[in-house]
Amino acid sequence: MSWQAVVLTLFPEMFPGPLGQSLGGRALAGGIWSLRTHDLRAHGQGRHRSVDDTPFGGGAGMVMRPDVVDAALEAATTDAPGLPVVYPTPRGRRLQQADVRRLAAGPGIVLLCGRYEGIDERVLEARGIEQVSVGDYVLSGGETAALVLLDACVRLLPGVMGSDESAVEESHSDGLLEYPHYTRPAEWQGRAVPPVLLSGHHAAIAAWRRTQSEDATRTRRPDLWAAHLSRSCLPAMPGGRN
Ligand code: ADE
Repeated sequence: MSWQAVVLTLFPEMFPGPLGQSLGGRALAGGIWSLRTHDLRAHGQGRHRSVDDTPFGGGAGMVMRPDVVDAALEAATTDAPGLPVVYPTPRGRRLQQADVRRLAAGPGIVLLCGRYEGIDERVLEARGIEQVSVGDYVLSGGETAALVLLDACVRLLPGVMGSDESAVEESHSDGLLEYPHYTRPAEWQGRAVPPVLLSGHHAAIAAWRRTQSEDATRTRRPDLWAAHLSRSCLPAMPGGRN
């Protein structure tokens, strides 16, 4: 049974988009995952199949109607019961690699893509829909965020990545950013590859990579570094030096 992705959207033609290429595309063609899109417009109201309305309380933009979204979810999930439903939104909890691992280990996902100002809160509440953000910036709709989430999940499915694309040592797999990478030529435009990488000394290479990972995490992502320190139970150095 393949991992099931069900996407509710006003723009079904945006899928699989980039996920039809490369690793994800091969896995889709090979049946490791499946993709079904449902056009939210099909559940719209009236002659114009309207899916949105003006916000109560006033303000800019339009809000997607709860009855329309509910009907679409009902129709889309009858033959895919029990899949977690996720609504990508900048108001959501920030997506972490741990969420991706959890979702990839399950049977699949239903992604509810919003447009306009968002979706009426009542249908999200009533159905206990998980709200997830892919970063602290605003996209023009949930579709590109859904593609990000799907990409992150699909690459972890068994059989998608070969040994060449191992997920073991990558950024976020152990809460640290990954070390930098180098290949031939050993010198390029006057820049040499760090000599330890040419030494053939595996323990020294591993130690250098670990230090590089820690340095990058401390300087670029103090939030991840603080979490890493609290996990490894190190007492903080005076002056916040670690
Ligand atoms: N929709 C619009 N912006 C988004 C974001 N940053 N994350 C998830 N969904 C979104």
